[in-house]
Amino acid sequence: MKIHFGVDYYPEHWPKKRWETDVQLMKEMGVQVVRMAEFSWFKMEPVQGEFHFEWLEEAIALLDRYGIKTILGTPTAAPPAWIIHKNPEIQPIDREGRRRFFGGRHHDCQSNPIYRAHIKQFVTAFAKRFADNPGVIGWQIDNELGNSHGELCMCASCRQLYQKWLQRKYGTIEALNQAWGTAFWSQGYNDFTQIGTPLITAAGENPSAMLDWKCYCSDLIVDFADWQAEIIREICPNHFITHNFMCFDNKVDYYDLAGLLDFVSNDIYPAGHWQKTPHQPESELAACHDVIRGYKKKPFWMMEQQSGMAGWEIMGRALEPGQMSAWAMQSVAHGADVVVFFRWRTCAMGTEQFWHGILGHSGKPGRIYNEAKKLIHTFTKYMEDFGGSMPSPQVAIVHSFRQNYALDIQPNHPQLRYIEHLQKYYKALYDKKIPVDFVQDMDDLSKYKLVIAPLQYLMTPELEQHYIDYVANGGHLILTMRTGVKDANNLCMTEIELPGRLGELCGIEVPEYDCLLEATGGVLYGKKEYEIQKWCDIIELKGASQIAEYSTGFYKQTPAITENKYGSGIAWYIGTEPGEELMEDIMTYISEVCEIETLGTAGNGVEMMTRESEDKVWLFVINHTNDEQVYHLHGRYTLLEGEREEMLKPYEVQLFVGNKHK
Ligand code: GAL
Ligand code: ZN
Repeated sequence: MKIHFGVDYYPEHWPKKRWETDVQLMKEMGVQVVRMAEFSWFKMEPVQGEFHFEWLEEAIALLDRYGIKTILGTPTAAPPAWIIHKNPEIQPIDREGRRRFFGGRHHDCQSNPIYRAHIKQFVTAFAKRFADNPGVIGWQIDNELGNSHGELCMCASCRQLYQKWLQRKYGTIEALNQAWGTAFWSQGYNDFTQIGTPLITAAGENPSAMLDWKCYCSDLIVDFADWQAEIIREICPNHFITHNFMCFDNKVDYYDLAGLLDFVSNDIYPAGHWQKTPHQPESELAACHDVIRGYKKKPFWMMEQQSGMAGWEIMGRALEPGQMSAWAMQSVAHGADVVVFFRWRTCAMGTEQFWHGILGHSGKPGRIYNEAKKLIHTFTKYMEDFGGSMPSPQVAIVHSFRQNYALDIQPNHPQLRYIEHLQKYYKALYDKKIPVDFVQDMDDLSKYKLVIAPLQYLMTPELEQHYIDYVANGGHLILTMRTGVKDANNLCMTEIELPGRLGELCGIEVPEYDCLLEATGGVLYGKKEYEIQKWCDIIELKGASQIAEYSTGFYKQTPAITENKYGSGIAWYIGTEPGEELMEDIMTYISEVCEIETLGTAGNGVEMMTRESEDKVWLFVINHTNDEQVYHLHGRYTLLEGEREEMLKPYEVQLFVGNKHK
């Protein structure tokens, strides 16, 4: 039997005499895998070069006796005090030029050669010791790369590496001066050694330089992971290597990082951020899973799936009965082949004392344990069948780290956030029970009936051509506000009116625009007036037809949304950020034009998603609410698991299977 469920386990937090009880309870719950050691460097190397792996070997052997396999994490997100004491210079420098010190985690600089030397010594010993251990199946590199490194690191080592990176990219300093537009504010450089890391300035910053900095930081993290993976791969050729991503987090370009891993893993805490009460909306979570699947176009693992109330200093809401299971099966519905719950037992010490797990502080199995056990015993058998299969959506949303970086640097509108904007389009489709893929802009788009490419702010001639070809060959494309504004260097386009050559595709020009700041605006679509937010592109028709017009502003009665037939396809342009209602109605119209299939109908708390093999379709229907729900399916399926068709109990997960029509 393959592996489907597991827990994150920290045996070093507990007396050894407890371990066997833990493992017995895990076994009964149905656990098949644990992840361990990703923060245990000091326990494994308390003094330089003195390795203590016995405790871990003992834990692995005990687990293995019960048939539970182990994934080991390299503990490089938490270098121990003796390293810091010996080499304080490996602690990172923030934008204010201050050092960040020991006492939490991530107090490291990933470019620092001295830190890398410590890692090399440790990881080599670690990998050698466990290469042939029968209980070990794979490795997680570091932990949540990019986490806490948001504004880091500005140290001398990073500065040097950044200069080299720029030199490789631009060749000559003249090319860099050109690309960064350093004619402005006397920012010209004579040579690469004059360029610093972006320490805090007196006022303003150069958007082109900042874009390069963000890309460099991403490359550094990818290099850091790759370099560690190489060490392990050579010593442990039979083990897989993965890493736990954080959904849409953008410190590292996950498409690049995914490239060096055997498969991608993800961490998700739906009720983990108390600021988002009571929890993150399910549509946003669903989008996270879809983007994770998109990073490698493969099924993935959940390496940390929330299993209890979250909390560091402040706690989130307790999980309602059934809620954890619904979230776990949501991960599976979107492409997770394995779900590892964070964490086995709520620990008594440290920053995360209140980050709850399957067991509470007392270690006594209770409500959550019983729920997890039931979930595992219900669904493991089906996961054997559909493991490896993928959803196969008809709609794609284009997602790009570079666009995200550029809009983080200059959001244009104070509240415009790239991912939130994408999530608005996603939600309209999610509510209609239309599955979605996230793709990169230059991916082959031809298999999708509809491609939504929001905020194509940075543009290249290649990408323009790519979109034009897609539509010319029969594709349906949605482009939006702030498209074609900048070139790849984050300099404004000057040759033609916005949105550049894509204006030809959309049959429009955008000579002017309005930033709505704190105000909202209005749009007339059909006979109804709707709310819009943040932005209004002022559009002139050059062949397109208008399908909605502004009802506010000095540009009222001018086009807000347009439609243009081009070649054998259609291009829509949405010049604003639609409010929820307009988004819903416009997406209904467009998905009907594109003949997109919907999986069924139900209220907004009910999710539908499919995974498909060669000849079968598995359909998941998930009730994310505390109430009974009714639903109706489009298509013929047989109920495999669930109480009653067309009815859902609170938080019930139903599973259907059907034949794939070819
Ligand atoms: C994750 C992290 C875990 C743990 C958890 C709860 O981000 O990978 O190590 O910190 O959050 O805070
Ligand atoms: Zn550094």
